[in-house]
Amino acid sequence: MTDAILKTHAQLVIEGKTHYLPILKGAEGDKAIDISTLMKETGYVVYDVGSKNSATCSSAITFLDGDKGILRYRGYDIEDLAEKCLFIEVAYLLLHNKLPNREELEGFRTLLEEYALLHEDMIHFFDHFPPNASPMAILSVMVNSLHNYYPEMGGDPLENIDKTASRLISKVRTIAAFSYKKSMGHPLVYPRNDLSYCGNFLNMMFDTPVRPYTVQPEVVAAMNKLLILHADHEQNCSTSAVRLVGSAGVNLYASISAGINALWGPLHGGANEAVIQMLQAIYADGNDYKKYIAKAKDKNDPFRLSGFGHRVYRTYDPRGTIIKKACDGILAVLNVSDPLLEIARNLEDIVLNDEYFVSRNLYPNVDFYSGIIYRAIGIPTNMFTVMFALGRLPGWIAQWKEMREDPQTKIMRPRQVYAGEPQRTFIPIGERF
Ligand code: MLT
Repeated sequence: MTDAILKTHAQLVIEGKTHYLPILKGAEGDKAIDISTLMKETGYVVYDVGSKNSATCSSAITFLDGDKGILRYRGYDIEDLAEKCLFIEVAYLLLHNKLPNREELEGFRTLLEEYALLHEDMIHFFDHFPPNASPMAILSVMVNSLHNYYPEMGGDPLENIDKTASRLISKVRTIAAFSYKKSMGHPLVYPRNDLSYCGNFLNMMFDTPVRPYTVQPEVVAAMNKLLILHADHEQNCSTSAVRLVGSAGVNLYASISAGINALWGPLHGGANEAVIQMLQAIYADGNDYKKYIAKAKDKNDPFRLSGFGHRVYRTYDPRGTIIKKACDGILAVLNVSDPLLEIARNLEDIVLNDEYFVSRNLYPNVDFYSGIIYRAIGIPTNMFTVMFALGRLPGWIAQWKEMREDPQTKIMRPRQVYAGEPQRTFIPIGERF
């Protein structure tokens, strides 16, 4: 082998034979070993439970550096986007790889307005869920069913992807608000095109015939920020679910529905709800931090600190930092005093000064403070994960689109290391013990 090949290939020695595997370099210096021919050449697969070390695609949507705490959508720093953009601008950016100019943004807004209504037949679905049904279950069912009412247009699902994407982004907001109204037993409030994307959602959630809702710009701004911060996060579990299901060639709605189901898990999107439950438990226990810190350190105790640590970040989650800063301002403007904010701050201080947690890189993540803002703007705890889904939707769609446009895409079909019985002789039923 020449030196040139050694610079571009990794060497792997198996059973005395050297194999040369191409090294890939990402746009931000990330490095990967291309093992796509490994099985064919050597008969070996790689074993990587939980895909901790495996890149399953190359993507141009989101860059994150977990050591430095950097997050960028399409090259733009999350700090700038969260501070200066509308959520629908960021959605456009994720879908089109470009920040929209005024005309493009207006065009997108018009599509969102046009698609805000739900087919009236679908509204009857809500009547058949039990009153305490999980809003995530409702969301996933309704999104899957959208396919029956609004099939993708044209022979190629990518042909009219802008329209299908806008339909989803607009209708998921309507579905989310309707599921809340149904859970309250209140009449539905229909979307209004004179309101902004977030204003419209808040109005559908909180307006009632007996108490008209006034959309407050501060509340709109807070929701806008949270949705932007959740809009994409590279190949997380729900995005991987969207790509995995979508790789079988299924329609966009079904793929997004799979993503919603993955997000529902307490280890993923459900974590923001778990944080509030944890803070409430500490409050109910008279702020007995010591007790909860001891429980978190006890390996035999199932209790875990929610909202700390992240698979990828070894430092602060930049989204958590932005939300923490926003918390004070938003609670002050809304004149809300929430004892859980103080508990969260104290707990963070304790954790960040305790060697046990520091050595495990347990920094606050995006879920730690987001629930406090959602509470302040009136979102009930069981809707927190729905809010996450609303924010993540443009990211899921952009990732699905990228996957379908990528000529390298194949149906996802991981391998395994078989750990079962060796071949056994079949025993007829009458002879079995
Ligand atoms: C997310 O935003 O999806 C979560 O932080 C989880 C992840 O990235 O793995």
